[in-house]
Amino acid sequence: MIIGLDVGFGRTKVCTEEKCFSFPSWVARHTPSADEEVETVSLFGEEYVVGEDAKYESSLIEISDIKDYLKYLPLFLKYVSQNLSETPEIIITGLPPKYRNYAEKVEKIIEDTEAAGKVIPQGMGIFFDVKGQVSQSEDILIIDIGYNTLDYIMLVKDERKQIGFRKRKSNTIDNFGINRAVLEFRNNLEDSYIKNLSLTRLNEIFINGKGRILNETVDFSKQRERAVNAYAEMVIGRLKTEVGDFIANVETIVIAGGGARFIKGEMIGRPDAFIPEKPEFSQARGYFVFGKTLGEEK
Ligand SMILES: Nc1ncnc2c1ncn2[C@@H]1O[C@H](COP(=O)(O)OP(=O)(O)OP(=O)(O)O)[C@@H](O)[C@H]1O
Ligand SMILES: [Mg+2]
Repeated sequence: MIIGLDVGFGRTKVCTEEKCFSFPSWVARHTPSADEEVETVSLFGEEYVVGEDAKYESSLIEISDIKDYLKYLPLFLKYVSQNLSETPEIIITGLPPKYRNYAEKVEKIIEDTEAAGKVIPQGMGIFFDVKGQVSQSEDILIIDIGYNTLDYIMLVKDERKQIGFRKRKSNTIDNFGINRAVLEFRNNLEDSYIKNLSLTRLNEIFINGKGRILNETVDFSKQRERAVNAYAEMVIGRLKTEVGDFIANVETIVIAGGGARFIKGEMIGRPDAFIPEKPEFSQARGYFVFGKTLGEEK
């Protein structure tokens, strides 16, 4: 089976021929209790809990840099494999452009699981996902709004290239993902009880636009809207320093990543922006598509 795997700082997304699913990129060492029902993953003689269930352990680890990513990737691979009906044979994943030197290392980690591994630049997953809609374009700006990072790739038509485009520019902007909007959201809250909730909890409230606070459901959609608008302004400003007026002039603009659930084209002055369905899965879906073409070539 071929799988597209997108390990994010927030969630890990997986796409196969049949389905896409995701889980929080969390791991914790498993501390057994007297009686419990929990799925564990064993690696190098240690037992771990991966995903949502990890939050009930005392030592939750969130993936926050490339070091953690390399360290825990084998665990995520094993967890994913346990949750699929078939063994993965080809695994396609991506790395932010600035970590491209780690590609071989990542491929090696994948190959240790006995699957063939291929790393492509993050962002290209989105390209392969939306290729059918954008391939006629002269130039394309792809924006991936994640939880921690905002990535962009600028592509320019080039017939000499196999994919028909040449990568003209790309960058990863750390601490510029939708978590910026969540921080903004928190700053604007008045109630100190809610303000002091963990970022993880606040993020849940942000995603739902409401939350159960001390047994009462409170609507936060207005506060969220304000935070999202403020964040969109920041995004425009930052992208202008990165790519200048290209943001206004580029023929095709694509917004994906989970942040595209909130940031719409109008907010960045491009009502024509293309947002794929379930944008948080765009990258993983595209990795899968790429994997399929690799599989067919073999
Ligand atoms: N199904 C959804 N409904 C609503 N919001 C969502 C959904 N999926 C993701 N989001 C929002 O988008 C944010 C970013 O999600 P995404 O999965 O793209 O981040 P990530 O890839 O883990 O982060 P990074 O790219 O920084 O590593 C989430 O924190 C959440 O706020
Ligand atoms: Mg991401």
